[in-house]
Amino acid sequence: MRVGPGATLGIVGGGQLARMMAFEAKRMGYRVAILDPDPAAPAVSVADLHISGKLDDDAAALRLANACEVVTLDTEHVPAAVLERIAHHTLVRPSPRTMGIVQDRLSQREFLSATGIPQPRTHSVSQPDDLTTVGAAVGFPFILKARRAGYDGRGQARVDSEAAVERAWASLGKVPCIAEEFVDFSREVSVLLARDVHGASSFFPIAENLHKNGVLHTTRVPARLAADVAVEAQALGERIALALDYVGVMAVEMFVTRQGSLWVNEIAPRPHNSAHFTFGACVTSQFEQHVRAVCGMTLGDPTLLSPVFMVNFLGDLWRDGPPDWSKVLRHPGVRLHLYGKEHASPARKMGHALVLDPDIERAARIAGQLAGELLSTTAHSPSRT
Ligand SMILES: Nc1ncnc2c1ncn2[C@@H]1O[C@H](COP(=O)(O)OP(=O)(O)OP(=O)(O)O)[C@@H](O)[C@H]1O
Ligand SMILES: [Mg+2]
Repeated sequence: MRVGPGATLGIVGGGQLARMMAFEAKRMGYRVAILDPDPAAPAVSVADLHISGKLDDDAAALRLANACEVVTLDTEHVPAAVLERIAHHTLVRPSPRTMGIVQDRLSQREFLSATGIPQPRTHSVSQPDDLTTVGAAVGFPFILKARRAGYDGRGQARVDSEAAVERAWASLGKVPCIAEEFVDFSREVSVLLARDVHGASSFFPIAENLHKNGVLHTTRVPARLAADVAVEAQALGERIALALDYVGVMAVEMFVTRQGSLWVNEIAPRPHNSAHFTFGACVTSQFEQHVRAVCGMTLGDPTLLSPVFMVNFLGDLWRDGPPDWSKVLRHPGVRLHLYGKEHASPARKMGHALVLDPDIERAARIAGQLAGELLSTTAHSPSRT
């Protein structure tokens, strides 16, 4: 069913993804409702309607369902049961089934395995007995990841030896986890695709990602990837989307191993940080594309208009007050995005910049300079607020 402009799009979660989705949806003439407990959440000031409630609050979810022709999400950490209940009243896209599979790292790994997708060896750790077998199952070092609710590298611990296994599990609160073999990758990339209600899919260019302390730091597009590997990466993404009968924008994070193989790290069933470059460097942004897909419309043109380098701004830049944004805005070819978050904590994502330049190496240099300048201005100007 098609949901046209003028209708109300509901978003569960009011973070920066919802904010940018709301910008695009409103430009296209939709009304936007946000469900989030925080009245200061980034998307609330952009939306037409704020429904205040926790993401697992049934009554709030029902209010959202009744206010909207279609509901989508800015996070996969919404209980699938709540989404099922919303789905009794209105369209939910992507589906509650998809969210149920993806929001638990173990069921996601099992799904990928059943779909024949290459991935790191994985072992379930849910009780003390599992700790004795995990080293033999996946080898050292490995990464222990909480099955639920992790993001930006939170809820993860690297384990280097048998002696460290128990401590690592305790550090994560002894919650159910998966252990994953540590992948000695040469690159990380993400396949960014959209699938419409009729099953047609469309690909944005593949992004090459660099993480720092488990958090995305930079994205470079086009990715440095051999043509045959890029084709294979997109084929893997399409297989995953097909198996989920997916509707919306999706990112599939992948490792490129030193031998040139592709292993899937994880699925993000929503717009993704590594596709922020599309909002400024592509004909259609990932946010517009997501709105088009979940509203049952034809997908937009994903063509890249210029090579682009994205750098994320985390809260550590705010240690002496807000950074001096004129350092960014003095570059005419740079697009600044700030998420309007009131509080900055060191690893919190606060904004990003896109550097568009026909010469991608120059774009990378400018992005590196910007990050360095912002850091040094905050360090040397403690009096500015
Ligand atoms: N098995 C692994 N081997 C090597 N590095 C890994 C492994 N798993 C994760 N990492 C590193 O940690 C980063 C974050 O891990 P992951 O994507 O699992 O976490 P996340 O918290 O879901 O992150 P986000 O939601 O921000 O993408 C990865 O992008 C990668 O750099
Ligand atoms: Mg990730």
